[in-house]
Amino acid sequence: MALALALATVTAAAGAATPPAAVVSRSRFLANVKLSPPLSYYDCTKKPPSVCLEPGSPGTTCCNGTCVDTASSFAYCGNCNKTCKFGQTCCGGHCVDLLNDSNNCGDCFVQCPKTKCNFGLCGYAG
Ligand SMILES: *[C@@H]1O[C@H](CO)[C@@H](O)[C@H](O)[C@H]1NC(C)=O
Ligand SMILES: *[C@@H]1O[C@H](CO)[C@@H](O)[C@H](O)[C@H]1NC(C)=O
Ligand SMILES: *[C@@H]1O[C@H](CO)[C@@H](O)[C@H](O)[C@H]1NC(C)=O
Repeated sequence: MALALALATVTAAAGAATPPAAVVSRSRFLANVKLSPPLSYYDCTKKPPSVCLEPGSPGTTCCNGTCVDTASSFAYCGNCNKTCKFGQTCCGGHCVDLLNDSNNCGDCFVQCPKTKCNFGLCGYAG
């Protein structure tokens, strides 16, 4: 009983010492964590495609039952009917070869202004 009273006193003191702003931001943080559903939630086989537009969705387009970002999806690059070939990467909705694409050299959107892209490096002569 004495312990419970002591704890209650400590809790009350801590509560009084905490600035209200900190309490608010902490509860917002907890609310965000709680509101983020698992990836399985964004299943547009049974739900309407609009589920892909909800916060936390992996992408805004429903392709074959999955919410995807067609800007970067290997399987659905640019649109739901376009799958990149083996060795390619989807950069901004285009399937590219990072090893020799002068606009996506080594990584998406890495440009080689005046040189060729070889082996994923600008101007590498090999
Ligand atoms: C669509 O998804 C089904 C089930 O995952 C799969 O079997 C099928 O190959 C997919 N079709 C296309 C065009 O990706
Ligand atoms: C994608 O493929 C489906 C099935 O083959 C076809 O009905 C649809 O018109 C195609 N869409 C585009 C954008 O090519
Ligand atoms: C890049 O390499 C691939 C595979 O060797 C080839 O098919 C493609 O034409 C090349 N692209 C350029 C821009 O050289």
